[in-house]
Amino acid sequence: MIKRLLGLLAGVVLVGTFASPIAQAQDYPNDTINIVVPFSAGGPTDTVTRLVAESMSKTLGQQIIVENVGGAGGTLGAARVAKAEPDGYTLLLYHIGMATTATLYRKLPYDPKTAFAPVGLVTEVPMVMIARKDFPPNNLQELVTYVKENKDTVTYANAGVGAASHLCGMLFMQAIETPLTTVPYKGTGPALTDLLGGQVDFMCDQTTNTTGQIKAGEVKAYGVFADQRVEALPDLPTIKEGGLEGLSFGIWHGLYAPAGTPDEVVNKLSEALKVALADPNVIKRFAELGTEPVPADQATPEALKAKVASEIDRWKPVIETAGEYAD
Ligand code: MLT
Repeated sequence: MIKRLLGLLAGVVLVGTFASPIAQAQDYPNDTINIVVPFSAGGPTDTVTRLVAESMSKTLGQQIIVENVGGAGGTLGAARVAKAEPDGYTLLLYHIGMATTATLYRKLPYDPKTAFAPVGLVTEVPMVMIARKDFPPNNLQELVTYVKENKDTVTYANAGVGAASHLCGMLFMQAIETPLTTVPYKGTGPALTDLLGGQVDFMCDQTTNTTGQIKAGEVKAYGVFADQRVEALPDLPTIKEGGLEGLSFGIWHGLYAPAGTPDEVVNKLSEALKVALADPNVIKRFAELGTEPVPADQATPEALKAKVASEIDRWKPVIETAGEYAD
């Protein structure tokens, strides 16, 4: 009898010690969640993530810590999450770079199509062309003329091969048929600091990082890479109005868990993401920063999975034409 009781007790202790993945998923989350931002603090990805994380934390009832892991256009941070425990406590918020780096990098340490469990799309942010306040050109046409005439001296900032600022710069240089000197940073947060200090001349960046500086007249703005003007920047013409065709694209952002994360956990995260994207404070702040949340039916694993696949296909030929790769 005693032997049987001891056996039962051991069984209880074992179950208590090694909770099954099913049990873990059922009471998820019961610990702090980390969201990796693969760019420096203070940049557009960081801004979007902190706004969404603050709201998701309330819904999930757990603290969410945002961790900045910059470098290599976001692929260092993405690699960190690809290798993390698939338990829902390490997530990634990454933008269009998830798709463009599939072609830009010949040796990625992960497969963007299979290394992650997509949670959902978050937002699609417009890109603007800005320059330091005392840069001579005063409109897009003057900018094109000036950088062509000074191609050996002007400097273009980006956040590394795979960053949105890199993609935009690559397309711009292709459009004006003029390669320029680029200055890489670990994010457009620090890049903007240098631009404001006059250490670098111009760059493309997202409205989520530049709207305030543009409105305050701290930088020169030449246009938005979109078909329509941005409500938050009504006086800023589109790049098309400025005379350059075919340069209209948005920087979409997605939230990911590592592949193998239980569906129940991924679905809980997707539901909390939807609540965050319907949060009036998030909607208001996004609008002030020139963007808006995606509709609820896009904040889903299926929508993000489809987006990554279609965007890899979309940008592959464009990048191959540009012939820009990273090893
Ligand atoms: C950032 O958050 O720093 C930006 O997304 C960098 C970039 O992609 O240009």
